[in-house]
Amino acid sequence: MDQNVGTEESIKRWERFADAYSQNHSEQGDLHKEVFLTPTLLSLLEKVENKSILDAGCGEGYFSRILARSGANVIAVDYSKRMLEIAQERTSKDIIIDYQYGNCEDLHFLQDCTFDVIVSNMVMHDLAKYEKAFQEMYRLLKNGGSFVFSILHPCFVTPESGWERTEDGKKLHWNVDQYFYEGVYEQPLGNNEKMLLFHRTLSNYLNTLIETGFNLEKIVEPKPSKEMIRKYPAFSEDFRSADFIVFKVRKNL
Ligand SMILES: C[S@@+](CC[C@H](N)C(=O)[O-])C[C@H]1O[C@@H](n2cnc3c(N)ncnc32)[C@H](O)[C@@H]1O
Repeated sequence: MDQNVGTEESIKRWERFADAYSQNHSEQGDLHKEVFLTPTLLSLLEKVENKSILDAGCGEGYFSRILARSGANVIAVDYSKRMLEIAQERTSKDIIIDYQYGNCEDLHFLQDCTFDVIVSNMVMHDLAKYEKAFQEMYRLLKNGGSFVFSILHPCFVTPESGWERTEDGKKLHWNVDQYFYEGVYEQPLGNNEKMLLFHRTLSNYLNTLIETGFNLEKIVEPKPSKEMIRKYPAFSEDFRSADFIVFKVRKNL
């Protein structure tokens, strides 16, 4: 695919897909977020009451609302205007969230050292210039503040990965190819839309975080809990391979 395709094209597609994408979200997120990401992010964030938190790439805002209901002071940024409209519509008047339009690669309208915590759920792989976004997150955090973000697991979800199946459709094993490919690729999402994703290797993510100045505190490869398996038995197959990875890094000067 044309390697000049970047964040602007990626966001155009999010703009078109915003309504359909948001339809799958409850106040716990979509199914994958409810099972894997929401519990993991909340456990890594720990106590959020009275903390100043940026939700970077907030989408339809479910996670910002969870944080605000728990007493956090939340600024939520997204680069899709339609996503922000939906987020605003879904936020009742008793919840205060400051929704702002912006690109995570350049959040110049936010001041240095503003946030105790930055959270970013499934956004960094949508950005052409993720290094810039890491630098912005570092700039915006107070000293000692933490940046918690989830992405598709780059070792298992690559431009060419998927189930190997028998002729009658039974899943044999999860195939991974093109791991060392670095750049943009298309991934079908929903019925009609192909979203843009930017693949990088695990070492690329880790080294860029280190070069930005972050200290790595924890990595989680979320698995479904027993409670979630009881609720959604189909997720048992997610013990075979990891779909997501979540990083907690800290700014310590
Ligand atoms: C997979 S959705 C996740 C939304 C939300 N974090 C959640 O967990 O529901 C990715 C979101 O990132 C936003 N996004 C993509 N690129 C962005 C960028 N450069 N700056 C800010 N937001 C961006 C999209 O508009 C979309 O709302």
